Amino acid sequence: MNFVTLTLFLVYQVHALSFPENFKFGFATASYQIEGGWNASGKGPNIWDWYTHTYPTRIADLTNGDVACDSYHKIATDVQLLKNIKADFYRFSISWARIFPNGQPNNINPDGVRYYNELINLLLSNNIKPIVTMYHWDLPLGLHQLGGWPNIALVDYFVDYADKLFSLFGDRVKTWITFNEPSQICEFGYSRGFLAPGYTQLGIGNYMCGRTLLIAHAKAYRLYEKKYKQHQKGLVGMTVHAVWFEPAAEGKTYAEAADISLQFMFGWWEHPIYKGDYPPVMRKQINYLSAQQNFTKSRLPYFTKDEIKLIKGTADFLGLNYYTSFLCSPLDSSAVQNPLLSPDSNVTCYQPSSWQSTASSWMKVTPWGFRKILNWIKKEYGNPKVLVTENGYSDTGELQDCNRVNFLNDYLTELLNAIKKDGCNVQGYAAWSLLDNFEWGSGYMQKFGLHYVNFSDPNRARTPKMSAYVLRNIIKTKKIDTTFTPQGFKACPPS
Ligand code: NOJ
Repeated sequence: MNFVTLTLFLVYQVHALSFPENFKFGFATASYQIEGGWNASGKGPNIWDWYTHTYPTRIADLTNGDVACDSYHKIATDVQLLKNIKADFYRFSISWARIFPNGQPNNINPDGVRYYNELINLLLSNNIKPIVTMYHWDLPLGLHQLGGWPNIALVDYFVDYADKLFSLFGDRVKTWITFNEPSQICEFGYSRGFLAPGYTQLGIGNYMCGRTLLIAHAKAYRLYEKKYKQHQKGLVGMTVHAVWFEPAAEGKTYAEAADISLQFMFGWWEHPIYKGDYPPVMRKQINYLSAQQNFTKSRLPYFTKDEIKLIKGTADFLGLNYYTSFLCSPLDSSAVQNPLLSPDSNVTCYQPSSWQSTASSWMKVTPWGFRKILNWIKKEYGNPKVLVTENGYSDTGELQDCNRVNFLNDYLTELLNAIKKDGCNVQGYAAWSLLDNFEWGSGYMQKFGLHYVNFSDPNRARTPKMSAYVLRNIIKTKKIDTTFTPQGFKACPPS
């Protein structure tokens, strides 16, 4: 190699190893998981307040989010943490029942507006962009009593709520996420019953809920486009949880099983948005099974032509939550179905026990799947603008959190490869989560935070873990340095 080639090679190597200049890093949370203040100053009850108070044994450690991290009283502390770790943005969610206590749009709670105004203003004065999720699972109880998401009437309620948020905060909030993880809202809330409201209308509630969410998302998007976009100049999208599904073996049937899984979990939402209507394989399989089961019509409700048109094209970016991967095979009678997917998918997926585990039973460490899902999205939907809205690791709360440090280094390396080597259009990355918090049915037993929260301290003191310093260094240098050891911590063994 002569001098010029060597220099070019080295420049290329350095470039390949660093995140693009305009790439943004941030941290994510959700209202019910961190805020507390469950009945403070005019807030109404939501389905998680009701669910945890009515069925305490459905939460592994019998806890709830009544106080959680008490972020309702800790705006200044949380923004300071974000500033210390050099966040470009903060993704948080708005508690609908803090704005409209019973979900009805005629009764607004001034303290809710005050709370989010203060948070947004303090973020901006510290140069941290707010990214707002409008719905992260905490439906006002009043709307649940009207039937919740399977009731199509919730479309109008959501649009009224979205309208209010755009008009109250849209002068300062420029990135909006309508729904967080619609698959989990519908599949787990209304079909499997793992999450509030805990209903088990298998193969029915999920699809009714899904139809409402897609139409509500699209109408909120169209409303913004028509009434706000020109002067507020913001972006609206949805966040979907993707698992990477890998064929369990060679051969066409395995490849098909993996693809069907991706379509049932991810395509359910993104196909209507990017291509129009449900993925053909979902339509075909659910229609077939519905007929076999003696239903008079398909359990997957049809969109009208106008609804298909309404939904198609309603994303300024694709919000992606990625944590883990599974191996998939066609279903045979002896196999257990993947609990993440509707049984209508007719596939079985599992995670080999040799894969590194986490504190969450559904999640093993699979950084390689990150690059694969990003490439699949690129190919399937024409390389859309992607914002990684969540990615993170669960443990039991160690401050020297080497597993999380290795997780971040390894997942971010795959993300970097997807951007630099494969040309995937990823614009930003949010770590889940800023804080240890209420992990739904697992209570406080699974910790995802880059900051430890002392839940037995009434003050809910926060302490940065080793991973917070490591991510801070990545944000500062735009590079991954697997040898970086922050002061006061021991070097981690390699992953
Ligand atoms: C996705 C959800 O959006 C979030 O609320 C949850 O805590 C994380 N995954 C970890 O399970």
